[in-house]
Amino acid sequence: MTADRFQQLISAEKIDRRVSELARLIENDYDGKNPIVVCILKGSMVFCSDLIRKTELQLRLDTMSVSSYGKDTVTSGNIKIIKDLDESIAGEDIIIVEDIVDSGITLKSLTKLLAERGAKSVRVCAFLDKPSGRRTEFVPDYVGFEISDVFVVGYGMDYAEKYRNLPYVAALRKVEE
Ligand code: IMP
Ligand code: MG
Repeated sequence: MTADRFQQLISAEKIDRRVSELARLIENDYDGKNPIVVCILKGSMVFCSDLIRKTELQLRLDTMSVSSYGKDTVTSGNIKIIKDLDESIAGEDIIIVEDIVDSGITLKSLTKLLAERGAKSVRVCAFLDKPSGRRTEFVPDYVGFEISDVFVVGYGMDYAEKYRNLPYVAALRKVEE
């Protein structure tokens, strides 16, 4: 038998402070603009809902659900769209809000796709960044926290659809019982 063990990595208080800082940065950068925030389902639901409530921008919200085709594909255009945006993004300022950047494949493909659809600008706000996992060059514009190469759950992120509702971020490891 194996069991899931957690170790708290980032507390709810620390998350709250950092999300407020990110909201201030984004608010300053988009002053006077009406960006479309694209929440990438399902992992960034919690982060995105906290983030947008901390800004006073006149933003619009849309959602997308994507999956990368495979870990071995590093060229652009290798994502499968499970749920597409509801609105056209031509001429719009887009802020993609994602839970975590690991290999970078998903976001590299997605930013390219949205730019090709005629967005005026495309930036990425990632709650977590695991730079050691990169398999393609990708640098998010806004990052909550950089973490080492551990598997994390909580604050929207899952392991087999579990643990998304934890209010903090935990490192997950399997132990034999
Ligand atoms: P990538 O950057 O294309 O490898 O994709 C990142 C996606 O992989 C994220 O949006 C998550 O869905 C998932 N992911 C990567 N690392 C973790 C983790 O530590 N916990 C939970 N999901 C992860
Ligand atoms: Mg994801």
